[in-house]
Amino acid sequence: MNRYGRLLASGFVAVLAGLGLSSSQALAQNYPTRNITMIVPFAAGGPTDVIARIVTGHMAQTLGQTIIIENVVGAGGTTATTRAAKAANDGYTLITGHMGTHAASVPLYPKLAYHPEKDFEPVGLLAGTPILILARKDLPPKDLKEFIAYVKANETKVNAAHAGIGSVSNVSCELLNSVLGVKPIGVPFNGTGPAMNALVAGQVDYMCDQIVNAVPQINGGTIKAYAVATPERNPSLPNVPTTAEAGLPAFQAQAWNAIFAPKGTPPDVIAKLNAAIVKALEDETVRKRLIELGSVIPAPADRTPAALGTLVKSEIAKWTPVVKPVN
Ligand code: MLT
Repeated sequence: MNRYGRLLASGFVAVLAGLGLSSSQALAQNYPTRNITMIVPFAAGGPTDVIARIVTGHMAQTLGQTIIIENVVGAGGTTATTRAAKAANDGYTLITGHMGTHAASVPLYPKLAYHPEKDFEPVGLLAGTPILILARKDLPPKDLKEFIAYVKANETKVNAAHAGIGSVSNVSCELLNSVLGVKPIGVPFNGTGPAMNALVAGQVDYMCDQIVNAVPQINGGTIKAYAVATPERNPSLPNVPTTAEAGLPAFQAQAWNAIFAPKGTPPDVIAKLNAAIVKALEDETVRKRLIELGSVIPAPADRTPAALGTLVKSEIAKWTPVVKPVN
């Protein structure tokens, strides 16, 4: 900055001080004045991408600025999350993370380049996403009991698609595999959007995926669903039994997707973003779309940044004894 620039900047700071505002408060007061980038750590068309697009579409109206979705894939979502952790903490780069990127990845990757609690500000929970056990439509087993017997008998031949080590699909199928005592072959993709395409095409055998990605395919008859891993059936799939009903009560799994900002993002910016999330989650069109896809809309008490912070802490504690480190 030249002498003139320095003078201008010091004059600006003096004006702010005269108004009783710090520069971060001033930033927050006008925020947002330009486009916001929302990093999605998986391929377009998958559950995180779909949820992010539904909610940020409404948030953009509230905030009066475009929210540009940028899909940054790789390493089970941790490549994008590392990038988001290092982004400027000014509210213009955010990430839609989930149970994998912001919880299970911690015990899974001992050398993880970020920590969900130390490097991020929680902004708000978007949706809970029950996990389903899915298979290509011509996999022989008719129901979950037959599927369990089939996977046990064909352990070295069957394969399970997932979205990379540490993704929800990977971690939840690892949980399923440990309940069943099997180690099938894992087939990684850049997200369960492309993994679902492979399942529909019959190129992979089965997958544990978030419901949002599966409802249209199950209803269209292009894949089969053996069970939903939650205590209750999901209203979007009334004919799909719970794992308890289908004979495997030990397998329970529900993921979540949420928005995070880099650590140090001004509290007033976080508050504006959170208010926009809350408004989106109260909008009838947004709610209808999320519910049609089987996701669970967070209760009002679960929509605050503090509630998301508590969820992240408890989810890291939950997954730490369950997942084994990969390096
Ligand atoms: C995605 O959007 O592709 C998923 O959230 C991936 C996953 O974690 O399974």
